Amino acid sequence: MEIAIRVNDIEFRLVQGTKDDKPVFRHLMQLYKHDESEHNGIAPDSHGLFDYDYLDHYWTKHGIEQEGRLAFVVKAAGEIAGFAMVTNYSSFLERGDHTRSLAEFFIMRKWRRRGIGKAVAHALFRHFPAHWEVKQERTNTAAQRFWQNAISEYTNGSFKHIESTPPGHDGYIHLFQSRS
Ligand SMILES: CC(C)(COP(=O)(O)OP(=O)(O)OC[C@H]1O[C@@H](n2cnc3c(N)ncnc32)[C@H](O)[C@@H]1OP(=O)(O)O)[C@@H](O)C(=O)NCCC(=O)NCCS
Repeated sequence: MEIAIRVNDIEFRLVQGTKDDKPVFRHLMQLYKHDESEHNGIAPDSHGLFDYDYLDHYWTKHGIEQEGRLAFVVKAAGEIAGFAMVTNYSSFLERGDHTRSLAEFFIMRKWRRRGIGKAVAHALFRHFPAHWEVKQERTNTAAQRFWQNAISEYTNGSFKHIESTPPGHDGYIHLFQSRS
């Protein structure tokens, strides 16, 4: 699956990652987790690597069919610009074909603040008409502002914004319906 998007005259492609692309996600995950560590305090393991428990699940039968897992690389003129990982997991909505959630979402630093994250998010919302759940950690205020901006623009203000506290997710959650 491939989704083409254009942002300020630059052509981007959201390319679904195959099993052969797993190392790409594993490597980019290091950059993403390092960015996240500023907010959630996670540390690398004794080899200096950040672990990501669910990577393999994006290419198992169960992960794809039961958990709706799909991983996309964001590409700009053949260059890797980020990734987006989608599941059907939800804390607040019934899990299934009509539910989608952004498990992980990452735009590389050189491409940030050009509207690319927003365009990628909107393309995914359009491509997967569903009840969407998007979570942000309490301390990641940049992500909170980004999602507030991207989702309020996409839905024209028609979304729910929920605060969630432990033992569940600690932070904020946007819930809305997307259409093709
Ligand atoms: C959050 C992230 C995806 C944003 O991607 P991006 O391509 O830079 O976002 P956009 O350029 O589309 O931003 C759209 C709007 O969101 C808001 N926004 C984006 N990044 C922001 C930031 N760091 N601080 C405050 N607001 C921000 C702004 O309103 C922005 O519009 P503006 O640039 O005209 O002011 C990117 O910074 C990233 O990958 N961060 C690290 C990983 C992460 O936190 N992912 C989200 C997990 S929930």
